Order: sequence, then structure tokens, then C-alpha cells
Amino acid sequence: MTDKATLTIGDKSYDLPILKGSTGPDVLDIRKVYAESDHFTFDPGFTSTASCESKITYIDGDAGVLLHRGYPIDQLAEKSSFLEVCYLLLNGELPKADEFAKFEHNITYHTMLHAQFDRFFEGFRRDAHPMAVMTGAVGALSAFYSDSINVDDPREREISAHRLIAKMPTIAARAYKYTVGQPFVSPRNDLSYSENFLRMCFAVPAEDWKPNPVLTRAMDRIFILHADHEQNASTSTVRLAGSSGAHPFACIAAGIACLWGPSHGGANQEALEMLETIGSVDNIKDYVQGVKDRKYKLMGFGHRVYKNFDPRAKVMQKTAHEVLGQLGHNNDPLLNVAQELEKVALNDPYFVDRKLYPNIDFYSGITLRAMGFPTNMFTVLFALARTVGWISQWKEMFEDPTRKIGRPRQLYTGATHRDYVPVESR
Ligand code: ACO
Repeated sequence: MTDKATLTIGDKSYDLPILKGSTGPDVLDIRKVYAESDHFTFDPGFTSTASCESKITYIDGDAGVLLHRGYPIDQLAEKSSFLEVCYLLLNGELPKADEFAKFEHNITYHTMLHAQFDRFFEGFRRDAHPMAVMTGAVGALSAFYSDSINVDDPREREISAHRLIAKMPTIAARAYKYTVGQPFVSPRNDLSYSENFLRMCFAVPAEDWKPNPVLTRAMDRIFILHADHEQNASTSTVRLAGSSGAHPFACIAAGIACLWGPSHGGANQEALEMLETIGSVDNIKDYVQGVKDRKYKLMGFGHRVYKNFDPRAKVMQKTAHEVLGQLGHNNDPLLNVAQELEKVALNDPYFVDRKLYPNIDFYSGITLRAMGFPTNMFTVLFALARTVGWISQWKEMFEDPTRKIGRPRQLYTGATHRDYVPVESR
């Protein structure tokens, strides 16, 4: 096996070292191409470019495989808990019992927000999208933690990671409570991570809130399924923002902003709205024709990396059935529409030829709606769960001694030098 490739430009050749990962495609090392050949490489959308070296998450999109630190996502979703997955992503290994107890304690005792922080929420309009509130609120959190500004100190990085994982449910629940005009519910440290979050969202002063173990487990599993996904758009945003040495909470706010878009985390809201638009199984044929006529996309279908079933979608589908069964919504018309639509699309050459399969968002919306979340909260839940992935990747970036500020180049096609023309002469 050769360990280098050769790039030939005109009559000159350049060696490109080939780097090998522990699995997955080898990588051509082009770091010296510009210095040696005076050429940039061109890859908008980063379809062929590895932006970093990472040991956290591995995806084989053709085989439909997703591993966190080597562990398959379906095993983690089945056997682990979200907090244990957080530890795994951050530290690289599953925790021993005493390590987990310490970690759980650290997260649990950082769940409160500064009392003054609540005033930030009041600055937003009541009809603000909760993702707008999240972007602003998490950015504002950096103003409360100027003590963790030294990103080069591993202990400060660890404290920031713990604070973020701990406080995100409290902020997300407040974003929800604010938009529905209900009083904020404080965290309770005797509850599990997911139970505490559900309580902060759904408890009201007028009546007792009763935990439902099936819904708590489903929430925890949904968080596990969204915890990390290697160098996707929002994670790359967090890494890029962090590469300048910016405050970690501000970097996470940048990740939240990126996640909001409908091509990324916003797709779960759009997927549910699409199912509502279709409304009934009878309308599927016409809707699918509209997709093929390129009037709109089938939301919750397709993925940049998976050209096979998204392994998270399979777990999500099972979770949807469990939740709807528990709540007695087995005949939810939207579930029928989703199942039939999936069947139609998976047998239609338009989708088969393009390798378009359901992604995680296809079934998550139905599940979250049944659990009581409004559609505009779906992406917020995604952001809450993905925070651990973002901060683990951010932390890994700082542990890499070769870290550089992220600074892509461009293929410039604009005007070349021209002299300024005064307005009366234009
Ligand atoms: N519906 C219909 N056609 C689609 C869809 C879709 N959902 N997705 C891709 N295609 C078509 C494209 O039109 C294109 O067709 P063409 O080759 O005839 O022009 C072909 O499939 C390839 O699509 P690309 O846009 O090149 O694929 P890309 O990797 O850039 O996009 C993306 C991936 C953005 C996820 C896309 O599939 C999409 O928009 N899906 C719907 C939104 C969605 O569900 N996003 C969630 C992603 S998962 C997540 O973030 C958690």
C-alpha cells in the first residue's frame, strides 16, 4: 500500500501524504499544497474535506453505522443513559461507578441559573421562536461566567462543559415556559436529568406533575440519539468559532444558530409540519409527485452522510411506537401518514436512485408532539442534546497541539483592481 499520492500540475509533481484513520476512508494531506504549488483546493460544502482529526464519533454513511467512542448508537440508546453518554463523549471511556457518581453530582449541582439571568428572557417578545431565545440566552450566559475565560486551561474547559450540560435543560425549559406564558419551574436535584427537564417544561403551580417512566426513558433516548454526529454544520461552526479562542458559551450559541436552519436541526419541525400538511394517507401520492416535480423536499428524508437508513431513525421509530402506545395514540393519523409515506418513498425510484432514506427527524416530531412539546420546541430539544457533542468536540480541539484558527480560502471570481469613481461620474 502506498502512503502518498502525487498531484501533478503542469510539469511539476507534489507528494501528498496519505493519512490513515482507525477506520473509514484514508485522507490526502493537502496542508502543504498551497505553500508548495501556489494552488488552493476547492470544496464548497466540504463534501470531500476532513476539517480535523477526531476520536469521538464515527459514521459509515453507506453502511448506516454510527459509533460514539466505538460504541454503536443502538446499544447506547438501549442500554445506556444520556448522562453516561455525555461522560463517554467528553472523556473517551464509559465511566466506572464512582466516576459516574461524581460526574452526575457535578452536572446535577450546576443546574440552577443566576437569578439575574431570568431577566434576559423578559426582553424577548412572547411570540419569539424558542430557538431565537436559546441563541440569545446561551450567548448571554457567557456574560455570567467570565471566570471560565481561559480556554487553554483544561480544568476551566471541564467546568465549562459541565455547566453547559447542566444548565441547558433549565434554559430550554425557560425558553418554552416564556413563550407559553407560564411561570418558570426551578430544577430539582433529586430527579434524573431527563425527568428534571420534563418537569421544568410541564409542571405548573396549579397541579402536581406526575412523572411517566416511559416518557422519561423516551426523552433520555431522544437525547442520546442527538448527542453527537461528528463534523456536521453546527459542530463545525462551534469548532470554527472556538478556534479563535472565543468564550465556550458564545461558541455554543453559534452552534445553536447554525442548528436552527431547516436543512439541519430545523428539519424536525418541518418534517412534522409536512405530515400535518399532507394530513391523510389519501394525499400522499400527490404530495410525493410535488417532491418529484421539485416543488418542495420531503422533510426528514435524505442526509449528507447516510446513503442508507440513518441508524438513529430506526431507534426513533421504535421510540415513537412506545410513546404513542403508552399515551394511547396508536391510531394517530400522522403516524399512519408517516408510515405510509415512508413505504411509498422507499419504493419509488426517485428516492431509491438518490439513496434518500428517512433520517432521525422523520419520526422524532411525531414522538415529541405526543409528549406535549409544540413543534417550535423540537429544535430546542435537539440543541439541548447536541450541546454535549459540541462541547466535546470543542474540548478535543483544544487538546490538539496542532490546533490552528480555522481560516478557509476562496476561489475569487469578483472584479479585479479598479479605481474608485466619484458618484457624479458613475
Ligand atoms: N427530498 C427530495 N429530494 C431530495 C431530498 C429530499 N429530502 N434530499 C435530497 N434530495 C435530492 C436532491 O434534490 C438531489 O437531487 P438531484 O441530484 O436530482 O439534483 C439529490 O437528492 C442529492 O441531494 P443533495 O441536496 O445534493 O444532498 P445533500 O447531501 O446536499 O443534502 C440534506 C442533504 C440537506 C439533508 C437534504 O437531503 C435535505 O434537504 N433533506 C431534507 C431536510 C432534512 O431532513 N434535514 C435533516 C438532516 S439530518 C439532521 O440534520 C439531523
